Amino acid sequence: MEGEKSSSLLINTIKTSFKSPSLPFIFLLFTILAFFTFQITTNDQSLFHLGVSNNRVEFSGSGFNEGGLKSCSGFFQFGYSRKVVKSILEFGGVGDGKSSNTEAFREALEFLGRFKDKGGGQLNVPKGVFVTGSFNLTSNFTLFLQDGAVILGSQDPEEWPIIEPLPSYGTGRERPGGRHISLIHGNNLTNVVITGQNGTIDGQGKMWWDLWWNRTLVHTRGHLVELINSHNILISNLTFRNSPFWTIHPVYCSNVVVRHMTILAPLKAPNTDGIDPDSCINVCIEDCYIESGDDLVAIKSGWDKYGLKVAHPSSNIIVRRVSGTTPTCSGVGIGSEMSGGVSNVIIEDLYIRDSAAGVRIKTDKGRGGYITNITINNLKMERVKVPLRFSRGANDHPGDEWDPKALPKVKGIFISNVISLGSKKAPLLQGVEGAAFEDICLKNVSMLDLAPSIQWTCEFISGASSMVFPEPCSQLQTNVSTSLC
Ligand SMILES: *[C@@H]1O[C@H](CO)[C@@H](O)[C@H](O)[C@H]1NC(C)=O
Ligand SMILES: *[C@@H]1O[C@H](CO)[C@@H](O)[C@H](O)[C@H]1NC(C)=O
Ligand SMILES: *[C@@H]1O[C@H](CO)[C@@H](O)[C@H](O)[C@H]1NC(C)=O
Ligand SMILES: *[C@@H]1O[C@H](CO)[C@@H](O)[C@H](O)[C@H]1NC(C)=O
Ligand SMILES: *[C@@H]1O[C@H](CO)[C@@H](O)[C@H](O)[C@H]1NC(C)=O
Ligand SMILES: *[C@@H]1O[C@H](CO)[C@@H](O)[C@H](O)[C@H]1NC(C)=O
Ligand SMILES: *[C@@H]1O[C@H](CO)[C@@H](O)[C@H](O)[C@H]1NC(C)=O
Ligand SMILES: *[C@@H]1O[C@H](CO)[C@@H](O)[C@H](O)[C@H]1NC(C)=O
Ligand SMILES: *[C@@H]1O[C@H](CO)[C@@H](O)[C@H](O)[C@H]1NC(C)=O
Repeated sequence: MEGEKSSSLLINTIKTSFKSPSLPFIFLLFTILAFFTFQITTNDQSLFHLGVSNNRVEFSGSGFNEGGLKSCSGFFQFGYSRKVVKSILEFGGVGDGKSSNTEAFREALEFLGRFKDKGGGQLNVPKGVFVTGSFNLTSNFTLFLQDGAVILGSQDPEEWPIIEPLPSYGTGRERPGGRHISLIHGNNLTNVVITGQNGTIDGQGKMWWDLWWNRTLVHTRGHLVELINSHNILISNLTFRNSPFWTIHPVYCSNVVVRHMTILAPLKAPNTDGIDPDSCINVCIEDCYIESGDDLVAIKSGWDKYGLKVAHPSSNIIVRRVSGTTPTCSGVGIGSEMSGGVSNVIIEDLYIRDSAAGVRIKTDKGRGGYITNITINNLKMERVKVPLRFSRGANDHPGDEWDPKALPKVKGIFISNVISLGSKKAPLLQGVEGAAFEDICLKNVSMLDLAPSIQWTCEFISGASSMVFPEPCSQLQTNVSTSLC
């Protein structure tokens, strides 16, 4: 069935292409070749080989590992082992899926925290289901979930107490004032590892989604894991499920590695973003599978005047070999909170299916800040409604007052080697009036089975393009700078 459908799509593509005499024949040939390459890879179930454990410890810090694949895991430096290793059972933990382990986790962390400057500590969670309220991590610490270990978030909102809003947001993201703390929280830490043998941390977010849906949420929902102002962090080899809000939220952090993670939430669960590096430097997100009700990865840096004031950018961020689906949002988003600036980002080797957008840059008047030097390479999409999208926000500001003169600057977006099958729309590239997005380069981008009547939408953007099919809008055909593309 798949094959038949694909061949008829291919025939349509060829027909369409011949009707359009402006397309060079060579490019058509290349498109067909690219199409067949894509067919071969998608027929092989695991496009990016996310699985298969070989029990090798991954703290190598080298630029390349695991069969020679390019890796940025060296952003995390592991130079020592943990001197004191304890099990949650030694602190009275009960993995029966009912008993509260809040005190056990808090005591364990208090105890292991005493060793942060004495060789460090590790807390093992064995097979079992451990219900807990929020707890805080410590420095020089490893949380290790053994095979079959499950940590479940408490269903009592009081076990997710209210904390201060982040300075770069000024207020809770969804509700004014303070916000619920994350289930697993860290502030001012160094050298933290959250890992294991594919154990699970499940936020049991449904209670929170219901509050959001039925408009009875009083304070902004908590994240599953949030680390504030922390450095040298590794989160790997686990499954995170059902976060109340964004799943992994490092903010004001540096040297953060998130890899070999599976992140799952129901596709309708509101704002359950996968990984949101926010005002962070040196972040490596690799080999993750994410399914959620919002962006799989969203790079942020603060909200309007608060983000501008804190001025903590997100920079040197790599997102690589991520695959997944999000029917209402994007594979990788930048923004919409980006007031502290976002620069030097590499997004590569993504496979996004059944989603609203592939890569989306979101900003707005009032944000200020900048998005510069973004490289997006090797993006494969199937049934992604709008493959590439730049969009203005939906009047989403902290409070009623915002400065219409605070315009974002977007410059230098390099998009190459993109192939999309089954998209409904051509790229929708809308910059901001009075602050046109500049130096947008599209190279080797093919949307293979769009209806011939479908047009690109481009507003307030300028740039260049080559080998783009179907033919891009005139704003990308200017001869701004031949070196751009
Ligand atoms: C980890 O568990 C998740 C959820 O059960 C599963 O989808 C994923 O394939 C597992 N990953 C590995 C590497 O076994
Ligand atoms: C983490 O998962 C990857 C992929 O499944 C595997 O190759 C690696 O050995 C695992 N690392 C550890 C420390 O278990
Ligand atoms: C963590 O351990 C390292 C190496 O032993 C040490 O230099 C550092 O001070 C420790 N950090 C804290 C916060 O204690
Ligand atoms: C965790 O840290 C936050 C501050 O970051 C604090 O408000 C909260 O009380 C701490 N929770 C525990 C259980 O110590
Ligand atoms: C984190 O460090 C900052 C700056 O040193 C300090 O103001 C704040 O109280 C610390 N927070 C916690 C929870 O330790
Ligand atoms: C909203 O959802 C919460 C959580 O499920 C529930 O306790 C509450 O009764 C609901 N409120 C309304 C008005 O439906
Ligand atoms: C653009 O970003 C890349 C990747 O982060 C970096 O290597 C390069 O130096 C940056 N270019 C400029 C001009 O900053
Ligand atoms: C164009 O992109 C496709 C798919 O991403 C890739 O297979 C092909 O090698 C690229 N062609 C060139 C000339 O770079
Ligand atoms: C291309 O460059 C030439 C010479 O600089 C200029 O006259 C022309 O207007 C440019 N074309 C476009 C579409 O910008």
